[in-house]
Amino acid sequence: MVSKSEIVKCNFKLSMYNQQNEESEPYMKKAFKWIGIILGALVLLLVLGIGGMFMAANGKIKKTYEVAVKPIAIPTDSASLSRGEHLALTRGCMECHGADFEGKLIMDNPAMGTWYGPNLTKGNGGLPADYSTEDFVRAIRHGVGKDNQALLFMPSEEYHWLDDADLGSLIAYIQSVPSVDSTVPKVKPGPVSKMLFLSGQIPVSADIIDHNTPPPPAPEYAISSEYGRYIAVTCTGCHGPGFSGGKIPGGDPSWPPATNISSHKEEGIGSWSEEEFLTAMHFGMRPDESSIDPVMPWPMFGQMTDIELKALWMYLKTVPPKPTGNR
Ligand code: HEC
Ligand code: HEC
Repeated sequence: MVSKSEIVKCNFKLSMYNQQNEESEPYMKKAFKWIGIILGALVLLLVLGIGGMFMAANGKIKKTYEVAVKPIAIPTDSASLSRGEHLALTRGCMECHGADFEGKLIMDNPAMGTWYGPNLTKGNGGLPADYSTEDFVRAIRHGVGKDNQALLFMPSEEYHWLDDADLGSLIAYIQSVPSVDSTVPKVKPGPVSKMLFLSGQIPVSADIIDHNTPPPPAPEYAISSEYGRYIAVTCTGCHGPGFSGGKIPGGDPSWPPATNISSHKEEGIGSWSEEEFLTAMHFGMRPDESSIDPVMPWPMFGQMTDIELKALWMYLKTVPPKPTGNR
């Protein structure tokens, strides 16, 4: 005989069993639902986060700058014009804007975007007819365009240091070149470069430049480390402010890193002679006879005068030795 209590127990177990079975499915469903909600929320946060970062990057790119442009004199004599041409060649303007200022491809890849140095002549596709001397000064000395937005790729923080006489000669020369009809694509930063701008890994010139302090007059044109220092600013964008090289900020992934040109004996050029430095700059050849990649614009920089190159060498020798990549 089965006692009553046993039947009750048995029924109770049975009902527990049924209950468990009934509940196990909704329980799983609930769990899945929650996992779904949590995952969904994470994805949403990620999308919002990335979206927010892009919005911030776009905001930074679209930011406007009001700079008071100091007027400078534009010379017309032929000596100043040829000085201007020399500067345009040896300070890299032609490297990015083309030998005739017709505009030139710098890089074009999905991550970093499309970068062309614009046509700086008055031809079709070039600067607008009302592009004034003041607009040139705002661009070159301040890194700010006619629309008051930052020029993103143009290394104006280096050109900020050109004194009034040199900047005047440079502008005079660019204004004198023949018009070239040439339309190049507009600058379009890619997703990676946007992030690098936002995080400050690619510095925006207009943010770094002290817009209210005009540059001091250039040191006397002579073989001196002071004059070398005046020129060497042009090397810092790629070789870093401490000249120790490393990955070029904002550069195309295919570019080699800039090498160490501090006075470090093993890693830098501290054991080179002046002659070896001149050979490297003129012919793109190191003392061990290996060739220097033309991402290093030696074909243009090598056309500096002997005075300029020797001054540059004199200055580079005073640069403290630094291990490679410490910028
Ligand atoms: C590393 C490449 C690079 C070098 C070197 C360079 N530029 Fe540029 N420049 C650019 C790019 C790219 C732009 C377009 C705006 C930007 O930077 O996003 C530009 C814009 C300009 C503008 C403004 C044009 C406009 O439409 O508002 C002027 C003027 C200019 N550059 C002059 C010069 C001069 C003069 C030099 C040399 C002293 C020079 N650039 C050197 C890349 C360069
Ligand atoms: C647009 C970027 C850029 C600029 C601007 C630039 N360099 Fe370079 N430079 C490089 C790169 C990249 C290399 C390495 C090339 C290679 O790997 O073959 C290099 C290599 C060199 C070397 C060879 C050193 C070695 O041991 O390999 C010398 C010397 C040098 N640069 C001097 C200068 C000087 C001086 C200036 C300024 C007047 C300058 N560079 C400006 C990119 C640049």
